[in-house]
Parts: sequence; C-alpha cells; structure tokens
Amino acid sequence: MFINIKNMVGSNRPIVITDDKVNSIYGHFFDGIDVIVLPQGELNKNLDTIKYVYQRLIELEADRTCSLVGVGGGLVLDMTGFVASTFMRGLSFGFVPTTLIAMADAAYGGKNGVNFNGFKNIIGTFKEAEFVYSQPEFLKTLDEREFKAGIVEIIKTALVMDADLFSFIEKERDKILNLEMELIEHLIKRTLKIKTDLVKLDMFDNDERRKLNLGHTVGHALEYLSEGVLNHGEAVAEGIVFSANASVALGYLKEEELKRIEELFWSYSINKNVNIKKYSEKDIIDAIKKDKKRNDSSVNFVFIQNIGKSFIQAVPFGRLEELLHDLY
Ligand SMILES: NC(=O)c1ccc[n+]([C@@H]2O[C@H](COP(=O)([O-])OP(=O)(O)OC[C@H]3O[C@@H](n4cnc5c(N)ncnc54)[C@H](O)[C@@H]3O)[C@@H](O)[C@H]2O)c1
Repeated sequence: MFINIKNMVGSNRPIVITDDKVNSIYGHFFDGIDVIVLPQGELNKNLDTIKYVYQRLIELEADRTCSLVGVGGGLVLDMTGFVASTFMRGLSFGFVPTTLIAMADAAYGGKNGVNFNGFKNIIGTFKEAEFVYSQPEFLKTLDEREFKAGIVEIIKTALVMDADLFSFIEKERDKILNLEMELIEHLIKRTLKIKTDLVKLDMFDNDERRKLNLGHTVGHALEYLSEGVLNHGEAVAEGIVFSANASVALGYLKEEELKRIEELFWSYSINKNVNIKKYSEKDIIDAIKKDKKRNDSSVNFVFIQNIGKSFIQAVPFGRLEELLHDLY
C-alpha cells in the first residue's frame, strides 16, 4: 500500500494531522511533510488538543495556502475538520480514514467537533472535507476490537435503512471477520450510500439524518460514564440493543426481530465488555441530558420498527428512566 499526501492537495502545502499510534505505524508516508501528532484516545478529543493544534499551526507558519490532511480514525478526522474550519476562518482540508468507523462513517457528512465538559461533540462545525482517500488496506493493522466498533456503525445503518445489508452481515460473518477485502469494500460502499443519501436530504441533522443516531442516546451516555473503558462502537452497540428492547416494550418491533438483533451482536462478540447494570438509571439519564439531541424535557429517540426501518420520537426523560428501569 502507498499513499501520496502531496498529490492529494495539488499545489497547496500539506500539513498532516494524525495520532501517535497511526504515526508510529504509517509515519513513513509523511516524510518531508509537516506533521502534527495528537495523543490518541477519546479523552483527548477536547479543546486543549485543539489549542495545541492551533499553536503548532502558528509555529509552522501555516497560511491559507495550506491544506490540512487528517490521517487516522474518527477522532483525528473530527478534530482536523474542526481546526480546518476555524483556523484563519477556514483552511482547505481532506481525510485519509484509517479505521472502519472513519471509512464507513466519520469521513463523510461534514460533522466536525470535540467534546466539552462531558458533552459529546457539543462544539463543532458542519463542513465537508474536500477529498477523502479511503484505502481499506489500513484495516489490516487495526485492533480487532476497533474493527468490530466499525461493524457496529454498519449494523446500525442496516437497521435504520437496509434489511438486505443486515442479512449480509449475518450471513458473511466469518469472511467479514477474516477481513476479506471484497466484502469489506462492499460493506463500506453500501453504508456510505445510505449515509450520503440521508445527508443530501438533511445536511444539518434536523430531520431524516437523525435516524443515524440510533443507539447513540444511551450509547454516548455509556461511553461518557465508562471514562474511556468502552470504545464508541461498544457503547453504541449497547445503546442499539436498548433501543430494540424499548421498541419491543412499546409494541413497535416484533420479539423475533429483537432476537435477531441481539444474536447478531453476540455472534460478533461485540458487547462483551459492556455491563450497563453497573450504572444507575439516574446516572444514565443525567448523562443523556448532556446530549445534543435533547429538548427541554425530552430527547429525540430512534426506535426500530422492523429490521431496515426506523423512526424518531421525542421521549420524556421520566419515561426513558422507566424504560431503563424496566428493561435492565
Ligand atoms: N463525524 C462523524 O460523522 C462521526 C461518525 C462516527 C464517529 N465519529 C467519531 O469518531 C470517533 C470514533 O472513531 P474511531 O473508532 O475511528 O476512533 P479513533 O480515531 O479513536 O481510533 C481508534 C483507535 O485506533 C487507532 N488506529 C487508527 N487507525 C489505525 C490503523 N490503521 N491501525 C492501527 N491502529 C489504528 C487509533 O490510534 C485509536 O487508538 C468518536 O470520537 C466519534 O464521535 C464521528
């Protein structure tokens, strides 16, 4: 595999933003290019790290002829997009996604940002990258746990919009886990088609695009409460299973479809690190109150109607607390 960063930015001066782990594996691709290395891990997705990047850009005498190139997972890309849309009122930027979450989701759709005071992605911008250079070969060095986190976002998209994709993930489990590239590329393309169609309808996340938040209300709360123990995908997987259980409890989803959903997560052994019972309903609700999707007294919650069909409904916090109590 080879990537040529200079070719990606045309006549602009490239500055790579990456994290320490990606830099240790792929740093040789950045020879002769200025690189800003961020500390890996969700706990570093914050304004202190952004401030460090601004300082480095000033030291490197960056100007409007520079293009920032984020090389890494969703964390690096979200922060690169944020810096690029704010530094000097906007620099050109592009992405080289290196995780499955980034390839199938984070690199597209224009959401950039950081966490603040426990609020997930609460500070950010909407701005699409000018280019995305996606090369699934990067996945060969990704930890299995991180790879499976990407599978969760793909399962989520299938649940929201595409029953055939869900069946494909069920049927082809062994080949997918063996990283058969043809299948992985198929998964990424199919997931992106759904995401980009939704983004075209609703760039600013006011309507249909919010279906892609399935599992993220409870998921973000668990990710926050776990203080870095759960990765994004593991927390969202548990959030999806909760949404599916709530959908059955309210009579929207059939019991046998719930079983299929739970079995798929177990068959990929995705949520084995998750123990939602560790957290009280109150702690989960307090964390959900930090969610961007909340209104005054309720949160916009994504329910599943069938595998491949979902809908959004505002749920009062009190009702959500009852559901958490009844279902766990
Ligand atoms: N903007 C969006 O639309 C969007 C969508 C989904 C997720 N996200 C965000 O993305 C983040 C999660 O993304 P992620 O799972 O990619 O996390 P991440 O960027 O933290 O990467 C996970 C880990 O994998 C390592 N890594 C990355 N590429 C590697 C490779 N090729 N080989 C070996 N190790 C590698 C990283 O160093 C890190 O330790 C969250 O912050 C989430 O909010 C954003």
